[in-house]
Amino acid sequence: MRPTRTALCAAAALLASLTSFSAHAQASGPIKIGLMLPYSGTYAALGNAIENGFKLYVQEQGGKLGGREIQYFKVDDESEPSKGTDNVNKLIKRDNVDVLVGTVHSGVALAMAKAAKDNNTLLVIPNAGADAITGAMCSANIVRSSFSNWQPGYAMGVVAAQKGVKRAMTITWNYAAGAESTKGFTEGLEKGGGKVIKDLNLPFPGVEFQALLTEIAAQKPDAVYAFFAGGGAVKFVKDYAAAGLNKTIPLYGPGFLTDGTLEAQGASAQNMLTTLHYADDLNTPKNNAFRKAYALAYKAQPDVYAVQGYDAAQILGAGLKAAGGDLGKRDVLTAAMHKTVVDSPRGKFTISPAGNPVQDIYLREVKGNNNEFRSIAVKSLSDPARGCKL
Ligand code: BEZ
Repeated sequence: MRPTRTALCAAAALLASLTSFSAHAQASGPIKIGLMLPYSGTYAALGNAIENGFKLYVQEQGGKLGGREIQYFKVDDESEPSKGTDNVNKLIKRDNVDVLVGTVHSGVALAMAKAAKDNNTLLVIPNAGADAITGAMCSANIVRSSFSNWQPGYAMGVVAAQKGVKRAMTITWNYAAGAESTKGFTEGLEKGGGKVIKDLNLPFPGVEFQALLTEIAAQKPDAVYAFFAGGGAVKFVKDYAAAGLNKTIPLYGPGFLTDGTLEAQGASAQNMLTTLHYADDLNTPKNNAFRKAYALAYKAQPDVYAVQGYDAAQILGAGLKAAGGDLGKRDVLTAAMHKTVVDSPRGKFTISPAGNPVQDIYLREVKGNNNEFRSIAVKSLSDPARGCKL
């Protein structure tokens, strides 16, 4: 009997996937890790901190994960979604990496996640919070060491409602991270009886805030929730204070608004309240050791991005250890990455079935150059993973 055309196509597809998988499945020699991060533009400092954190953990393991040497390949993604697919293919197809690590910008990460799924490549996300990646796009191959955009936003909404905020405004860049972060805030606030009267936005990575600040002054909300990060967060917090708004309308945000930015923001950020899964002064042996080692290695203070890079390496290390360093044991490896309890500088956390951290979100207050712990805003917060089917 002759095979049907459909059967032949299915066999060819299976062969192609096995060939591409076996190219990644060596059990000896260095593991090739592709770091796709922003090394230029408004998120450059975030990319560098992630790489530093990742490499710090690997160095602490004697330069190996799962008993295997590590070889790095790097691409600057420029936080540019339109170049995301080409950039990730440089790592997957040109450099033939075993594991992708990246990135910061949600729009770029969505392109990475699609390529990782299409090519059956492991992906560890050390920042970008795009809800869909651990929602409708979830995959056993993809694990995040950071947060979903919904998580810190929702927690800040809960806190704002507890503080009696009834009418709030939001302001952000109009891309996935800003939209999802402000949506999370709105959900938390509404649950506590408040509401968002207006959402303001501008294109990423724009910093022309004046007209929007004038509108905030005119509307006089009880509070403003802002999602900005990196260079844009520095400029926004300074402009908000320069306009005198911080004297009458509290400025809240996810911790990205004041993380890794405080030296540049100076007086304008003092006493600001934000929510995040890390605080600089967590007085635990793990955080103290991490901060000391990071400062020694890089002559700089770590921030949340460095923590997420460090934990990305820890999660990958747990998977590789379980698989005895054999990338061919993909199921063992990804199962261990999902089951690990991560001993993080932020505190211990677990990974949800969808691949996102289940973690405490802290309320922090800016004092000097630190985001200081004030309380746990929401305990063991798990992203709803809307649309995830595994
Ligand atoms: C994001 O695009 O997901 C993102 C970027 C910077 C900080 C936090 C989230």
